[in-house]
Order: sequence, then structure tokens, then C-alpha cells
Amino acid sequence: MNDWNGLKAECADCRRCGLCEQRHNVVFGVGNECADVMFVGEGPGEQEDLQGIPFVGPAGRLLDDMLSIIDLSRKENVYISNIVKCRPPRNRDPLETEQDACIGYLRNQVALVKPKIIVCLGRIAAKKLIDENYRITRQHGQWVKKGDIWMTAIYHPSALLRDVSKRPETFDDLISLREKIREVGAKV
Ligand code: URA
Repeated sequence: MNDWNGLKAECADCRRCGLCEQRHNVVFGVGNECADVMFVGEGPGEQEDLQGIPFVGPAGRLLDDMLSIIDLSRKENVYISNIVKCRPPRNRDPLETEQDACIGYLRNQVALVKPKIIVCLGRIAAKKLIDENYRITRQHGQWVKKGDIWMTAIYHPSALLRDVSKRPETFDDLISLREKIREVGAKV
């Protein structure tokens, strides 16, 4: 699917995995569809499921604060989506089969946005997009280039809500992101 409207319509009716049974809304993506910087989380939580928008609960408020530290915002210069578009029950990790059923939508989103940089939010996205053996505690903030796209992972905002001791490292990772944005000439 190579146009936004077609992709959104297909995703809205998706029944490729069991997560469709209990969803209130498909949570497709939000932000600037031409952004050079894209963020990818794990999957919708309760608020996201109810509103149909990624990262609108407590973790989302923290994500917005994190973005603003380096002058990014979902309204202007980033696009935000998730590995799976429907909420896993009780916010459990999405199963591998659910991720595989859904990943095509994300690949299409990446093809349409054409970001220069992708930031994985947390372990699940990093394992799916960077390396199946990714260790977030050891590797967060490191950069790898896949094709034309620079990729990194930072701690998921939910992890930062649970464990504030991880926040200083994440601040460093955000500064590194700002440097990468400058280095590659990403528009922000
Ligand atoms: N956590 C995620 O990974 N994605 C969301 O959209 C919300 C919370």
C-alpha cells in the first residue's frame, strides 16, 4: 500500500491478529507525515486505545516533555507510531505473532514518511527494528545505520516513569539525538 489514505483504511479494518477482538480503536500514528525523525513505541495502552492516538496517557505526556527538551514536537517535526496498532490485553508485551502480523503497516508508514532517523522507544521496538538480541540497558543511545536510516533506541517513557534513575542516561541519549539531527541535516 503506497498511499496514506489506503494504508489508514486498510489498517482501520485490520483483523490480522487476535488483538482486533477487544480494541476500541486502531492506533495508527500521529504527527508530521513528512518528518525526518520518527519514534516507534511498542503498542497502545488504555488511553491510546480509547482515543485512537499514540502516546496520550501518562507515558505520552512524558514523551512530549522529552521531545520538548530538544525542541521536537508531535505537532511539528516528528511522526510517532507503534509496532502493534491495537492494545494488548492488560498492556502485556505484544506477542511475536502479533508483531509479525502488524509490522507491514509500520514498514509502509516508514516508506511513506521516509525518515532520516528512527528512534525506538524501549526494548520491544528495538528488538523488532534494530536487532533481535538488542539489550536496551547496554545498548540504548548507540547508533546503527540500516539502509539510509540512522536508528537508535532509548528507554521507553513507561520505564522512565517506573524508574527515575534511568532519566539522566535518557537525557544524554536525547542530546545525542539532537547531535545526530544536526549531523545528518534532518529538518526539524
Ligand atoms: N506505550 C507505547 O508503546 N505506545 C503508546 O502509544 C502508548 C504507550
